[in-house]
Amino acid sequence: MKHLTFQYKHVASFLTEEEILLMQEEIDTCHSLLVEKAGKGNQFLGWIDLPSKIEENLLQSIENDARSLRQKAEIIVVVGIGGSYLGARAVIEALTSPFSAFENSLGNPAILWAGNSLSQDYHADLLSLLDKKDYALIIISKSGTTTEPAIAFRLLKNHIEKKYGLEEASSRIIAITDGTKGALKSLSEKHGYRTYVIPDDIGGRYSVLTPVGLLPIAAAGFNIRQLISGAHEMQKICTGTSTILDNPAACYAAIRNSLYRMGSQIELLVNYEPQLHYFTEWWKQLFGESDGKENEGLFPAGADFTSDLHSLGQYIQEGQRILFETVIHIQKPKRALSIPFNEANIDGLNYLAGKTLDEINDMAALATTLAHIDGEVPNLDIILPAIDEYSLGELIYFFEFACGLSGYLQGTNPFNQPGVEVYKNNMFALLRKPGFENETEAIRDRIGGE
Ligand code: PA5
Repeated sequence: MKHLTFQYKHVASFLTEEEILLMQEEIDTCHSLLVEKAGKGNQFLGWIDLPSKIEENLLQSIENDARSLRQKAEIIVVVGIGGSYLGARAVIEALTSPFSAFENSLGNPAILWAGNSLSQDYHADLLSLLDKKDYALIIISKSGTTTEPAIAFRLLKNHIEKKYGLEEASSRIIAITDGTKGALKSLSEKHGYRTYVIPDDIGGRYSVLTPVGLLPIAAAGFNIRQLISGAHEMQKICTGTSTILDNPAACYAAIRNSLYRMGSQIELLVNYEPQLHYFTEWWKQLFGESDGKENEGLFPAGADFTSDLHSLGQYIQEGQRILFETVIHIQKPKRALSIPFNEANIDGLNYLAGKTLDEINDMAALATTLAHIDGEVPNLDIILPAIDEYSLGELIYFFEFACGLSGYLQGTNPFNQPGVEVYKNNMFALLRKPGFENETEAIRDRIGGE
């Protein structure tokens, strides 16, 4: 079995190996805080040993429910936002053909998403589509009260009950939420939905390997055992040693924090495979909510190359020197495709005839790395053997562990997200939510006639 590897040769002109290894002592301290669950936010460290602790009967139950949803529905709508949606979407989109909607899907339901925005048109269009399709719902909310998924679920629950009747509708809904409290828990009890519990000690952005990610991923037809197996392998490596040269997540955390201390402000996660776009979205949440607090933290941004080389490429090459790139490379594509020879050669591409598109993509990546290094943009490389469940499991755990370490290196709590409440409180005040009367008065005064 081939594994994820992390390489730092393209950072050498900015940071020597000796300088990286100077971080060893700090890494040792932060590694102990993490694996001994003794650091800030340690009540949310359930993800650390999750891959090794997932129980067989939970997996079987998820697989059974996924099978029954797949038999019933041509569309499964997953309702959730942030950590209650991005991990599942990252894995499903990475593994799904971008053209699956146009193919005979061989019993694979389409997975659609709701409750991750407040767009009226998006949700109205979705309901119109569902008028004509057989569907089921997976509603995910740890708190059970987040506004976006709660509104989407009210709309969808109304629709599915009208379409199928109360009893059949309830059998088409699975809820993933807190074990004891919240509006979604109460609704589930009232209507008898099947439910899964989000463990108390795992925050939203670290929850992809709980039912939050596993049920939608299994419902989409993918192998959750392989996903967990990859994560488990990375758990053993990451928790087993703090030695920078033996632990890829520790090495990555040491380097990204060194670059931050040297003045980098932005980390750009780069891929050369468009189906990894949502993996980047998951990564942005993981690092954005974990690092960005107390006026600290690298800003996590993403780019899909080569597409974005024709837009962001100019800035990366010659704009402000405040960023570095972490590039995900895929060693083996699923499909073969080479450039055909053409007698007339009017497009002048015969010099590429016989080469695979993947060889050309690799050369584009190397050319870009060299250009960006010349433009003073350090590059870090993550090499994944393939885009499959096992490798994605490794990648997920690698980033989670590195993210925890990074937060501790920075001295902040990587497991809370106090900043996301500010807009919510304003919104509740503006919408006159009961209980927010004082805030409503204050915000109305503040905005005057608006
Ligand atoms: O990481 C987080 O905690 C957040 O992104 C939450 O996952 C998101 O706000 C959704 O919360 P909930 O699952 O309570 O609906």
